[in-house]
Amino acid sequence: MPNVLDTVDPRTVQREAFLRDVLAGLAKPRKTLPSRWLYDDAGCELFEQITQLAEYYPTRTEISILREHVDEMSSFCGPGAVVLEYGAGAAIKTQILLAALRTPGAYVPIDIAGAFLLTTAERLRRRFPQLLVWPVTADFTAAFEIPRGVPQQRRVVFFPGSTIGNLDAAEAQQFLRQARRHAGKGGAALIGFDLRKSLEVLLPAYDDALGVTAAFDLNLLARINRELGGNFDLDGFRHEARWNESESAVEMHLVSLRTQRARIDEQRFAFAAGETIHTESSRKYELADFGVIAAHAGWRMTRQWQDEQGHFAVVGLEVN
Ligand SMILES: C[S@@+](CC[C@H](N)C(=O)[O-])C[C@H]1O[C@@H](n2cnc3c(N)ncnc32)[C@H](O)[C@@H]1O
Repeated sequence: MPNVLDTVDPRTVQREAFLRDVLAGLAKPRKTLPSRWLYDDAGCELFEQITQLAEYYPTRTEISILREHVDEMSSFCGPGAVVLEYGAGAAIKTQILLAALRTPGAYVPIDIAGAFLLTTAERLRRRFPQLLVWPVTADFTAAFEIPRGVPQQRRVVFFPGSTIGNLDAAEAQQFLRQARRHAGKGGAALIGFDLRKSLEVLLPAYDDALGVTAAFDLNLLARINRELGGNFDLDGFRHEARWNESESAVEMHLVSLRTQRARIDEQRFAFAAGETIHTESSRKYELADFGVIAAHAGWRMTRQWQDEQGHFAVVGLEVN
């Protein structure tokens, strides 16, 4: 099976997939856009700014867990591990892990944001000159292969950032199954995910006082205008973070401020005042529930690390 986004010019494939998702998502009775499209170059830069915000506890909490337990995580990964990272972004946390690993065999960062990924790969090559760094541009919610040339020794899936929380239950199952296939026999995984907590902590993390998260969310409409020739009026929408109890998720929405229309690729979409476009869900797990989900996908949860407040967890999984 080819790496879907690697075989043809990735920009053409991505544009077509983006257009398809946008037209389908906006045609639904409850308008929605897949969160993976939040991450073009501008979106990746804005996300990095979000990770620095006082309200955004997940990044600093996960980094503190990694720093405190990295020696145990390194032993868990073992010597010569090949690290496959899904949704690598700027790979800030990865550097903590790679620096602690004994003679890592290779680092394979995977991301849908191809240009940003190449910059990350270059930075990692400079930081770890002995390390084979092999970036793969792919959508990890679709089927794709790890390049054949990547060494076959023990593979460790690294999936920090609670990016798994952006997937719904079916997508998370599918993701974990594919990751297990990529890891292969004897493989392992380190996965970081956010835990349920009070809404006073949760909601500001997705609606900060400086408005960086709002800019990140609205960039999706700007991206549609830039790449798909849309004509969204960005001043006609505002960002909102909502808690959805039945999904155990914080949702990001773009709320239409008035009755309006937008055009994309000759299709017109009408918005009522107050109508929203759902742009992202960030699911919050219970630790034990995650073990059950992982078990359904063929993984055994054998290790778990948390911060003192119980805000965030990193778990070690092994292939059954
Ligand atoms: C929440 S950020 C996390 C970045 C980094 N791993 C961290 O922990 O800070 C999500 C990253 O996953 C990437 N991403 C989101 N959905 C994706 C998908 N379906 N396929 C591949 N990459 C995806 C984004 O481009 C972005 O770099």
